[in-house]
Amino acid sequence: MEQKRQGRRRIAALATTALAVVILGSASAATRKPTSPAQFDAARAAFLADLQKGAVAAAAANATSTLEIQLGERLFSDKNLSLRRNQSCASCHQLTPARDSKTGKRLPAPGFVDADNVEHGTPVSDGSVPGRFGSLNAPSAAYAAFSPAFHWDSDEELYVGGQFWNGRSATLADQAGQPFLNRVEMAMPSKAAVVDRLKANANYRELFWSVYKLKIDRSLSAKEVETVYGAMTRAIAAFERTRPFAKFNAKFDYFMVGRTKLTPLELEGLVLFDGKAKCGGCHISTPTQHADGTWTPALFTDFTYDNIGVPRNVLIPGDPAPDKGLGGRPEIAAVDPQKLEIGKQKVMTLRNIAITPPYAHNGVFATLEQITHFYNTRDTLGRVPDNRSSRFGVTGWPAPESPRNVNADELGNLRLTAHEEAALVAFMKTLTDDYPSWGQDPKVPPGSSPPYWQ
Ligand code: HEC
Ligand code: HEC
Repeated sequence: MEQKRQGRRRIAALATTALAVVILGSASAATRKPTSPAQFDAARAAFLADLQKGAVAAAAANATSTLEIQLGERLFSDKNLSLRRNQSCASCHQLTPARDSKTGKRLPAPGFVDADNVEHGTPVSDGSVPGRFGSLNAPSAAYAAFSPAFHWDSDEELYVGGQFWNGRSATLADQAGQPFLNRVEMAMPSKAAVVDRLKANANYRELFWSVYKLKIDRSLSAKEVETVYGAMTRAIAAFERTRPFAKFNAKFDYFMVGRTKLTPLELEGLVLFDGKAKCGGCHISTPTQHADGTWTPALFTDFTYDNIGVPRNVLIPGDPAPDKGLGGRPEIAAVDPQKLEIGKQKVMTLRNIAITPPYAHNGVFATLEQITHFYNTRDTLGRVPDNRSSRFGVTGWPAPESPRNVNADELGNLRLTAHEEAALVAFMKTLTDDYPSWGQDPKVPPGSSPPYWQ
């Protein structure tokens, strides 16, 4: 177990090490810790030098046609593809800004999560059929395209990548095929039923022909239904790989390229994030350099899995049993006799995190302040029975819902002061996209060019 945790830490360090090599010419074992301020600066300098040469990778590289993206965009927001014609992907991964739960004002940017949850603090989404709920909080569909295909990394001895909290879909296209048939989501009875809805739409008939040379305007064999369904999921994935899902135009990004400064509190938060608070060990704050020399700006996740000891959320309708995460997948359980993967959930990106409450796989944390306090005091605050208690997060936390494999090495007792917690939160607020439009920063006025690409 200890070895696995170190393995994950190494992934974080590897990105840093590669960067350190570029700028310092040597890498030492000493770099296998969360990024130090000097390493962060070195990484940033190496990245910037390459940026000037244009060597920054476009979103999650894709050579798809505009028409395929157009098709994916239509599909993503099409409610007709759910049983009651009342729900689309966009219902739970909204493409426009939700409203602030307190002020009712539009949030600064779209969060790609369920706006109902953001606005009402509910942990889970309604399905197409009223009264049916899922048991997990909808994560952001933004930046999801950067998760590598799910795999076992034998060097690091860790599972990496995939889609969903437990990684059960290897790729974005595979993921896109699931919600249509999920009874607590879009609830369609079969792939053929989804394809029938596609067939009924003249625009889809045209686009499936021009993009995939698939004639859907006729009766289709079971095999052809598979082909059309697969093409549909590829179109959705193509749309999810476009710039609106990965703008990289947060304050943090303008800071990275030197076009603005962080406030002293935000900067303190960044130093803590990679230092005393150890967040950067999993939510990586430095850009990643690929084998071909190109870069992806910081994604604030390493796409690995961990059990951070999240308490049960008894407010989820039906109070479902705690989700077993990665180790609950039958094919993982089959090769995990020691149950080392039980309770582990995917490390999610922290991009746009300030506008996507509630937090964690079961949405038990209402605010960024609360989850930050949890990381700091999980093991020191004391106990309350459950999250209905008014003392939740004030005088205590409930026990972890999955007691196995709880990470006690890197979190749970960080000894941060209240001021330091506030600094971390201030830093995380710099990760919200569309900074030119909300930042009121004279150095980055509305309409400013994006930080990394023109
Ligand atoms: C009823 C709400 C709902 C609908 C509709 C829905 N999703 Fe989701 N989505 C979720 C929830 C909840 C999860 C997490 C479920 C899990 O991990 O098992 C999720 C997970 C995802 C993820 C994984 C993100 C990550 O980082 O792992 C992606 C991508 C995604 N959805 C895209 C889509 C697409 C595309 C559609 C339409 C085909 C869609 N969703 C429809 C609620 C929804
Ligand atoms: C050991 C790896 C690890 C470290 C260190 C870590 N995190 Fe996380 N983080 C995770 C995992 C795994 C999740 C998802 C946990 C879950 O839902 O059960 C997560 C989730 C989160 C979320 C909620 C994401 C969402 O979409 O709901 C926030 C916010 C967050 N972390 C912030 C932090 C901060 C701040 C720190 C440092 C104080 C930190 N993390 C340190 C692994 C880590």
